[in-house]
Amino acid sequence: LKRALGLAGCSLLLFAAGPSLAADPIVIKFSHVVANDTPKGQGAQMLQQLVEERLGDRVKIEVYPNSSLYDDTKGLNALLTGDVQLLAPSMAKLGQYSKSMQLYDLPFLFDDMQAVSRFEQTPEATKLLESMEGHGILGLAYWHNGMRQPTANTKMQEPRDMRGLKLRVEPSNVLADQVKALRAIPRKMAFGEVYQGMQTGVIDGQAGNTWSNIQTQKWPEVQQYVTEANLGVLSYVLITNDSFWKGLPAEVRTELNDIIAEVTESVNDNADRLNNEARQAIADSGSTTITTLSADQLADWREATDSVIDKYRDEIGDDLIRAAQQSNQ
Ligand code: LMR
Repeated sequence: LKRALGLAGCSLLLFAAGPSLAADPIVIKFSHVVANDTPKGQGAQMLQQLVEERLGDRVKIEVYPNSSLYDDTKGLNALLTGDVQLLAPSMAKLGQYSKSMQLYDLPFLFDDMQAVSRFEQTPEATKLLESMEGHGILGLAYWHNGMRQPTANTKMQEPRDMRGLKLRVEPSNVLADQVKALRAIPRKMAFGEVYQGMQTGVIDGQAGNTWSNIQTQKWPEVQQYVTEANLGVLSYVLITNDSFWKGLPAEVRTELNDIIAEVTESVNDNADRLNNEARQAIADSGSTTITTLSADQLADWREATDSVIDKYRDEIGDDLIRAAQQSNQ
């Protein structure tokens, strides 16, 4: 009898172990606001695919592009409440969690995305990824998009051409101040509402976004001019809920980190190409004129917005600003 009980116990144990062996995969919801054929959109899809291939029985990534689940503000709240596990918002959405993250919003700080790449290799940039932990947010990687270009229905060649324009900005005080420094009027607005805002005249344009976003959001349909000003960087941090991430089984987390490193390399290798292609498509469409700036005009734009860097120097940290500037060489 004892043996029979033992066997029964064994099979009970096996039964009990059964469901956990075949347990439902951990679902990771990844919400974002851009189109699939953008640097972030492609990165999210690649992440989903590699996780399916390598961790398919344990983890499932669900991707919700185009603000189909949340806009960025609601997405950040959902990350904190555990309703979504991955986001890649632009740095302009993260200043509320980390003052130093506002660094990336400063006007004309980085000359190009290569300078951004060089900065991201520094210990200062690695530390920035951890700067939101007090709010329960962990930065996992930097994903690139590109440089910011303003659009409107009037030609913007000189800083004074911006005067009085109502321009959409992301929820960033730095970006709003940059618009004010150009004597324009900042309007904070969710990304998914910008097209309609332009169409209905609620806004005259937007203060700076990447070629790939401008093209895939179809803004050229309702904007006649874009200025190639490269007036700042629009780039992302892949973020997760700190306690969710640390609660994952260690081997799953390690594999996910490896996959993320691979996807990050691909996103950052492809971002420039996607933006160049989008720029070309806009130029070819003929519906929107691309205005380029001479060296003198560029110097005027820089001068007009320089005060913003000084205004935020203490909040962001002079050392951090200098480290970023050094990456331009
Ligand atoms: C924006 O709101 O303009 C961008 O942050 C959207 C994005 O994710 O690229």
